[in-house]
Amino acid sequence: MSVEQKVRSHFHADARRFDAIYEDDKSALTRWVDTVWRGVVRKRFDLTLELLEPLTGKTILDVGCGSGRYCIAYAQRGAARVVGVDFAAAMVELANEHARRVGVSDVCEFRAGKFPDAVPEGNFDASSAMGFFDYVSDPVPIIARMRELTKSTMIMSFPKSREWRVPVRRLRFLISGCPLFLYSESQVRKILSEAGVSNYDWMELDRDYVVAVSLQQIAE
Ligand SMILES: C[S@@+](CC[C@H](N)C(=O)[O-])C[C@H]1O[C@@H](n2cnc3c(N)ncnc32)[C@H](O)[C@@H]1O
Repeated sequence: MSVEQKVRSHFHADARRFDAIYEDDKSALTRWVDTVWRGVVRKRFDLTLELLEPLTGKTILDVGCGSGRYCIAYAQRGAARVVGVDFAAAMVELANEHARRVGVSDVCEFRAGKFPDAVPEGNFDASSAMGFFDYVSDPVPIIARMRELTKSTMIMSFPKSREWRVPVRRLRFLISGCPLFLYSESQVRKILSEAGVSNYDWMELDRDYVVAVSLQQIAE
């Protein structure tokens, strides 16, 4: 099985458990595990929304959209068009389910497929890829394609290779059979440079590095 097949089948099987991280109604033990081990998931979500404000009228691409939580939040904050791409069918089903439930199906389009193959036509004001590069063996062509599709802002996260939770995380993914890719700061900066990205803000968020790329041309 290729890296991509392993990642896809992991997230297809794990979709509901992953999505539950965003829910508040859970046992004290699950809440503790989600806060200590996966707290970054919700911190990334809050930071991304803050960085992309104002969302009104924007078109947004979310790469590795999972259960659609980001896409739905973009739509609820006034985005005009949101496209989410994910190759795990169960994630896309959940995303469609959530979008229907909160009434943003007309704004959100979810594509079941591999990025960058399953990409719609046209450009987007902004794009995000959060909690995604953890599962990607070669980020350079993906970031380069996101850059081609994005007019203004790109937000991406990369998990740190040196962090106190890394040994346990590595072991957990080894046992589950899902590949996991972790990065040093210099590796991320090299990847960005090879993908043609130079103008960015660098942030540290819990166990992740977060990069906010500005693609806007300054008028001369
Ligand atoms: C940890 S989830 C993150 C989901 C979402 N961004 C979030 O933070 O809520 C990562 C997702 O990336 C998807 N994925 C990984 N590589 C992909 C690829 N090349 N094309 C499309 N989806 C991919 C997986 O199926 C999985 O649903």
